[in-house]
Amino acid sequence: MSKLIYLDNSATAFPKPEEVYQFMDSFYRKHGVNPGRSGFDAAIETEEIVHNTRKMLTELFNGDDPNRLTFSYNASDSLNMILQGLAEKGDHIITTCLEHNSVLRPLHHLEKDGIAEVTHITFDTKGYIDPENIKKAIKKNTKMVVVNHSSNVIGTIQPLAEIGKICKENGVYFIVDASQSAGAVPIDMKAMNIDVICFTGHKCLMGPTGIGGSYVKENVPVKHTRFGGTGVRSAVKTRLEEYPYRLECGTLNILGVAGLYAGVKWVNEKGIDNLHNKEMALWEQLKNGLQAIEGITTYCADSTKNQNPVLSFNVKGFDAGDVGTLLDVDYNIACRTGLQCAPKVHEVIGTFDIHGTVRLSMGPFNTEEHIDKAIEAVKEIAGIRN
Ligand SMILES: Cc1ncc(COP(=O)(O)O)c(C=O)c1O
Repeated sequence: MSKLIYLDNSATAFPKPEEVYQFMDSFYRKHGVNPGRSGFDAAIETEEIVHNTRKMLTELFNGDDPNRLTFSYNASDSLNMILQGLAEKGDHIITTCLEHNSVLRPLHHLEKDGIAEVTHITFDTKGYIDPENIKKAIKKNTKMVVVNHSSNVIGTIQPLAEIGKICKENGVYFIVDASQSAGAVPIDMKAMNIDVICFTGHKCLMGPTGIGGSYVKENVPVKHTRFGGTGVRSAVKTRLEEYPYRLECGTLNILGVAGLYAGVKWVNEKGIDNLHNKEMALWEQLKNGLQAIEGITTYCADSTKNQNPVLSFNVKGFDAGDVGTLLDVDYNIACRTGLQCAPKVHEVIGTFDIHGTVRLSMGPFNTEEHIDKAIEAVKEIAGIRN
């Protein structure tokens, strides 16, 4: 069997840089102890890595205070904490049809439990939200706007600065799901007026699974939804108000933090723009190749501008899942098919009732040869029925 061609980087980046594997291994052997709880050397050195990772990510997002950069299991975990911690009875929340279930579901439950009313803003035929539609949807009781920066189905990158400006002018919190964009494109919380950013470690930040987090700006009143040990001020009976303890309790996933540290360092060294440009050249190669095949429909794949290297398509006469199986079994190409945890995107692009799309997503270790092989494979599959 030929070597695996991995084109499912939107699900998780794979492989990780060699530096990440090596750093995790050596870190855990030398420093696999509980940070912040003790005064011996290894504990202090572990705390240093944790703090430096907070610092690197705070700088990446242009935040101010590394302590407000808190860690969690992943983006879903942080989005739950933020959305549930901010919403109050009677609130109105605006979000978009581009969201992943990690936003749609917490919001659905807030609505179902009678806490908040949720409005979903749709996107245009090219895959972009018009900020004016968000402005028009704002009501007196609108508490927050929640936006997926970059779609995990169609890869389009939303105009955060314009949306953030509208949020600021109207006094509503702006929450960004940066799962597919952190480490992929620049994010500036100040220039974009973002109040809270939620990220995951295992995608474009090149860390392992099981680590993610959020950065919460000052004056954003996120209520505690979890209580527990913090390693400091143990005599206090109540929750601790201050960050990072406000959103973190229990022993941190320090192996995950160490991997994230090495991943972010690697991304910074390579340069976000360099990585993005290389992957977008592959995206363009793929788009042109697929669009030239008879019987292929691509979705919102237009230009490389405001786009991440993610492409969804269907093959005439085939269920998306069957194309995925053929790519896997006959060509050893890994992709993702179906609704990709973002059902509303499929409602808008018209693929909900036909079992979604086939999604190919590129990462830093893909090559032109991988893309050539993927195009050739799709051509052969399309040829079966056309
Ligand atoms: C846009 C978006 N948001 C949230 C998530 C959830 O990330 P995680 O599974 O790491 O919590 C994903 C993962 O695919 C995503 O693509």
